[in-house]
Amino acid sequence: MQFWDIWKKPEAVAGIYIHIPFCRKICYYCDFYKSRSLSRKRDFLQALLKEISFRKDYLTDEKIETVYFGGGTPSVLTAAETGRLLDTLAGEFSFSGAPEITFECNPEDLTEGYLTDLRKTGINRLSIGCQSFYDKHLQLMNRRHDAKKAEESVLLAEKTGFQNISVDLIYGLPEMTPEEWEYNLTVALSLPVKHLSAYILTIEKKTVFHKWLQKGKITLPKDGDVINQYKLLVEKTKAEGMLHYEISNFGRENYFSRHNLLYWQGKRYLGLGPAAHSYDGVSRQWNISALDKYIEGIRTGKPYFEKEIPDRKMQFDEYILTSMRTMWGADFHWLKAHFHAGITQSFEKTMKKWKQTGHVREEDGHFILTDEGILLSDRILSECMAV
Ligand SMILES: C[S@@+](CC[C@H](N)C(=O)[O-])C[C@H]1O[C@@H](n2cnc3c(N)ncnc32)[C@H](O)[C@@H]1O
Ligand code: SF4
Repeated sequence: MQFWDIWKKPEAVAGIYIHIPFCRKICYYCDFYKSRSLSRKRDFLQALLKEISFRKDYLTDEKIETVYFGGGTPSVLTAAETGRLLDTLAGEFSFSGAPEITFECNPEDLTEGYLTDLRKTGINRLSIGCQSFYDKHLQLMNRRHDAKKAEESVLLAEKTGFQNISVDLIYGLPEMTPEEWEYNLTVALSLPVKHLSAYILTIEKKTVFHKWLQKGKITLPKDGDVINQYKLLVEKTKAEGMLHYEISNFGRENYFSRHNLLYWQGKRYLGLGPAAHSYDGVSRQWNISALDKYIEGIRTGKPYFEKEIPDRKMQFDEYILTSMRTMWGADFHWLKAHFHAGITQSFEKTMKKWKQTGHVREEDGHFILTDEGILLSDRILSECMAV
């Protein structure tokens, strides 16, 4: 039996992730792998097309159920470039009947003409990085668009025929007031969106925000204020009929991100482009996080990547870290059937402790974080780790 097979749908399906490592402007909070210069975009696309054919045997037994263009900013690609990538994938892989094809975009790139052309390529899900509907927040974050464009872009996406739209928001921003966060949520939920990803601001090393925080140029809201912002998020999305299916993700029924579900179900996936990760059911590998080296490696036929085979303890930790972030929680029957008693007994003890305090609940043999538990998820999950 394979790792995580209890979660697996009977069909053999897999996903493809494509990393587009370019951004026209760098946001002050972000440490995703990207380059501000687009001078190597052409070379990159050539390398990517070559990588698709190099790696076509990575997923041979499965139908491709999802494709996810992430970044960076995929919307720096023209619709023609995107279409060429999708056509090449379609030539090399076997797709399921109705694949989900997601494209992350920056609102500033979304014109009516561009969206209309994107639709024709087969893209059927957009993830739009609105982040906030206040100009002052967007300027502070160094975003490329303003609040008006953030709102307009979602409406334009709907107008041009996209009906599966997700929006990204960030909360816990410096000096963000409860009223401002409430307004952002109200606007986002009044737009034609099926899905919302709301991330708490994380201060990443080597970002401008990190430097500013150290110098005292920005201050973060107090923990209690951020907790209240999170509670409001849970409340308002629920009132709108969205399901809180993962810590940062909310979706209407049948509109959860199928690509993310596939990761959490332990399905195989192929990651293309610099910094992209792949999983073949046994080993994990990740491409080099350096554009020039990525291009050179593909050109010379010796791609740069690293690979590891997770041991049992690492597999246990990965399952806990992903499953416990979802509304389905960790399946204890399955854990007991797949891992030795030393690991599972200690996990059960930790779960029972947090159950008594109301941070974990048990349902059909699954341990699930409660809303209170999600607030302490870092601490609870670190206590569960086997490594
Ligand atoms: C790759 S970006 C999305 C697409 C596009 N690049 C954009 O920003 O419009 C993924 C999302 O991660 C979130 N994000 C990135 N860094 C973050 C951080 N340090 N804290 C919180 N959210 C972050 C943002 O909401 C962002 O939209
Ligand atoms: S948040 Fe998006 S646009 Fe901003 S730097 Fe990160 S990847 Fe680029």
